[in-house]
Amino acid sequence: MSAETQKKAAAEFALKVVENDVKIGLGTGSTANFFITAAAEKVKREKLNTVFVPTSAASYALAQKHGLNLKNIEDVPFLDFTVDGADEIDPQFRMIKGGGGALHREKIVASSSRFVICICDDSKRVETLGKFPLPVEVSKFGVNPTAWKIERALQHLGYTEAKMRLRANAEGKPFVTESGNAIIDLALGKITDAERLEGILNNMPGVIEVGLFIGICGIVMLGTDKGVEELTRK
Ligand code: A5P
Repeated sequence: MSAETQKKAAAEFALKVVENDVKIGLGTGSTANFFITAAAEKVKREKLNTVFVPTSAASYALAQKHGLNLKNIEDVPFLDFTVDGADEIDPQFRMIKGGGGALHREKIVASSSRFVICICDDSKRVETLGKFPLPVEVSKFGVNPTAWKIERALQHLGYTEAKMRLRANAEGKPFVTESGNAIIDLALGKITDAERLEGILNNMPGVIEVGLFIGICGIVMLGTDKGVEELTRK
């Protein structure tokens, strides 16, 4: 079964939370897109009053195209669920997110939700985070000194082989997030101290958001060749 089929199956499995009087954060990315499309069909079919809060312009546009009832996070500060994808997820449900550049808004929306559901294909499940480069959203002002501080911290933490890259867009220019920031991707190989790393990076002037999502996700709906597995954090 292809990754796309697994993503779609996981997204459709998550439809069970789309009900009347429920407020749902909409993630960003290809898996979240499957959820948005399927949720719109269910809402229309069952005439539901579900409210949705998107985490990016892309998710907003897709949800709007399908006629979902959209609100922003300022108007709906407490959500029942957020349904979103991941770039990697480990057995403790710690995730790397931000491959699509939406990590800042995704983290704000997810952390405002009672339950965060990760929908993903089997390839996202890892024993140890870090094969996927860790996105760190940083202020454009002082991007070079911030990068230098990150490099020093990584050396200090023992990531001697770490590689850092300022993310570029399709035209080769620096990528700019929807909050107007840059992203530095950290290729770390294996993240052995996710909590400590997140804390150190978060404390650094110039760092806006770290793509480590720790203690946020409680439920995983994992698309596999044998069907969708629902896992709950212990
Ligand atoms: C967006 O910034 C990311 O956090 C996505 O949620 C993540 O990259 C997963 O994307 P896919 O669902 O496209 O794999």
